[in-house]
Amino acid sequence: MTSGHSFYITTPIYYPSDVPHIGHGYTTVAVDTLARWHRQAGDDTWMLTGTDEHGQKMMRAAAANNATPQEWVDKLVGEAWFPLLRTLDVANDDFIRTSQPRHEERVAKFVQALYDRGYIYAGEFEALYCVGCEEFKTEAEIVDGEGPFEGLKVCAIHSKPLELLQEKNYFFKLSEFQDRLLELYRTVPDFVRPDSARNEVVSFVKNGLKDLSISRSTFDWGIQVPWDPSHVIYVWVDALLNYATAVGYGTDPEEFARRWPAYHVVGKDILRFHAVIWPAMLMAAGLEVPRGVFAHGWLLVGGEKMSKSKLTGIAPTEITDVFGSDAYRYYFLSAIAFGQDGSFSWEDLAARYQAELANGFGNLASRTVAMISRYFDGVVPEPGAATEADLAIQKTVQDAAAHADAAIERFRIDEAIAAVWTVVDALNGYITENEPWALAKDETKRERLSTVLYTAAEGLRALAVLLSPVMPIATEKLWTALGADASIGALLAQPIRAAGQWGALRPGSTVTALSPLFPRVEQDA
Ligand code: MSP
Repeated sequence: MTSGHSFYITTPIYYPSDVPHIGHGYTTVAVDTLARWHRQAGDDTWMLTGTDEHGQKMMRAAAANNATPQEWVDKLVGEAWFPLLRTLDVANDDFIRTSQPRHEERVAKFVQALYDRGYIYAGEFEALYCVGCEEFKTEAEIVDGEGPFEGLKVCAIHSKPLELLQEKNYFFKLSEFQDRLLELYRTVPDFVRPDSARNEVVSFVKNGLKDLSISRSTFDWGIQVPWDPSHVIYVWVDALLNYATAVGYGTDPEEFARRWPAYHVVGKDILRFHAVIWPAMLMAAGLEVPRGVFAHGWLLVGGEKMSKSKLTGIAPTEITDVFGSDAYRYYFLSAIAFGQDGSFSWEDLAARYQAELANGFGNLASRTVAMISRYFDGVVPEPGAATEADLAIQKTVQDAAAHADAAIERFRIDEAIAAVWTVVDALNGYITENEPWALAKDETKRERLSTVLYTAAEGLRALAVLLSPVMPIATEKLWTALGADASIGALLAQPIRAAGQWGALRPGSTVTALSPLFPRVEQDA
């Protein structure tokens, strides 16, 4: 089922100094869902995630905890960041940590290549730096401090004082790339998506680009500049390079050629790094730019961007412990238009869980399987002649699969789920209208009953395939209950782009009891 298409997709690499919250989880499950979809379509898929471990913030946190930076990140990554992937059922192909030797060696090669090609020079630098952002701040990003910081200049995001840094630095000639970047945005209109993100990037670059300071000499938790070991590479340059180093840049040309270029999914807060600096670095190195950068919105809690520092952080396990990982994935991916901000609330989550998952999809699955057990001894019946209502379901399934695939191509996971949900709604309506429980009472309606229950079961077959990237656990359970494993093979082996073709589920398959896919939860959650 390989179509040969290479599909390499990445999450940002996370700062392990923060405890994972639902915002990090959101990015990760979105990328995982896109990767699972493409994998199941037979594309040569690779999903990368990881952690961004260098920089001053990490060094200070380690010191505050009486640990070396390496000990400290090992602990954080082991205790919080690897487990996050299991909590959310993420099927990543690789996990890169920027403190790994494979990364450090390849970063040094890349930076050396830029130096050799004349894109890096030494200069003097003086500017205000925010350790929270690990970023020098421009005037527009600096505000006057309040309360304990009155009289000081503070970061507009962190509300904490900035540090004046004066040092010899190495600079990357970012300013030379303005025209080439604008040309890129013009010729590849969906290089940056959605449009709002693209417009922001274009107008930012049109305003002119300054050269970028890419080294620091006041601390040493980072990758040494190869020709000047008194400097370490700026943490953002080090971090962006993970996307290339993880797939063999500099050491494994075959792997690199197979995977590169990537699609990057990032929160809109880090869009410029990915859509401006990163492609310019790649151009300077003579490499292909990414296939595209998709910026998603923020999760808002109580109207504010959720963050640990503002004490609105919610751990993913708070949700998965109650509702399960499938519900987590479904909720964030369906309820928020991918690319826009979305508000999280427990009430909304609980309401959608009950209405859409338990009563909508879960109940459809349970009652279909139960009726096949009751009326046909568990054997999926042979359908009779199709009526208009049956053909309408077949068309709904076919259209839903096509729309969902097209939506996924545009990274609109929410639209893909909405398309698939037309099948859930149509089938629930179909069962209500056709009343199989009434047909079962009349021996002369046996053929009609067969058709109705076959139609429902075959619709569930399509739903299991189409929803497996979003809800891997529930769909596996459903697949097993439909007896599909034995008759048509493993769920993950079903080609997703053919999921809308009617009639794949074989009559004669044996269904088995299905416990509720989305059990009732305690309402005080
Ligand atoms: N380490 C850098 C990224 C380097 S990528 C080469 C970083 N890390 S981070 O841990 O602070 O944030 C990473 C990502 O987490 C954000 O870009 C975004 O995708 C996600 N989110 C963090 N907070 C979020 C919300 N409140 N809402 C949605 N996503 C959020 O930046």
